Amino acid sequence: MSGSIDSTALEAYLTPRRLAHSLAVTELCLHFNERFRLDLAEADLRAVGLGHDIARSWSEEDLRSYIETRKIALHPGEEAVVDLLHAPVGADLLRRMGYNEDVVRAVRYHTLGSLKMGKLGFVLFASDYLDPNRTFLPEEDRALLLAEPTIEDLVFRILKRSVRYLADEGKRIFEPTRELLAALGER
Ligand SMILES: [Fe+2]
Ligand SMILES: [Fe+2]
Repeated sequence: MSGSIDSTALEAYLTPRRLAHSLAVTELCLHFNERFRLDLAEADLRAVGLGHDIARSWSEEDLRSYIETRKIALHPGEEAVVDLLHAPVGADLLRRMGYNEDVVRAVRYHTLGSLKMGKLGFVLFASDYLDPNRTFLPEEDRALLLAEPTIEDLVFRILKRSVRYLADEGKRIFEPTRELLAALGER
């Protein structure tokens, strides 16, 4: 169980810039857990916050060779987008370190979003997007998102923004992303 793993050890895997991001994401994860009364385990929140980008600094070559060696299943088209590959690799690394499947699934889907990501995944997804170190999100938009009443509403708003951005850029929208967006829209 991840409860017995000290996730501060994950800090050693991160570059200073990734560490600043990951610590900010961890703080937001803890905040959303309180704010939305989700009752998620603090150890799991810290694990996803600190661990989700554990493979973010890997080279494309290393990511691809890890995926091949470990026979990691990707979604159709996912292999073509290098920026997405750190999620399946990071999830597999965390599983091998002994983290539980809630943590593994949250990290696996922190890039795409998926119905399988669970509440822990929702919290990670929102926290990753709302890291104040990021500059792509105008402060007034950030404030509006932070005012959403539930974690589902928050993830829905973020997904809508992301999908609109991807569509404008002519980029692919993946099936798990579409499914999650549809499910959250139908509540
Ligand atoms: Fe990431
Ligand atoms: Fe991240």
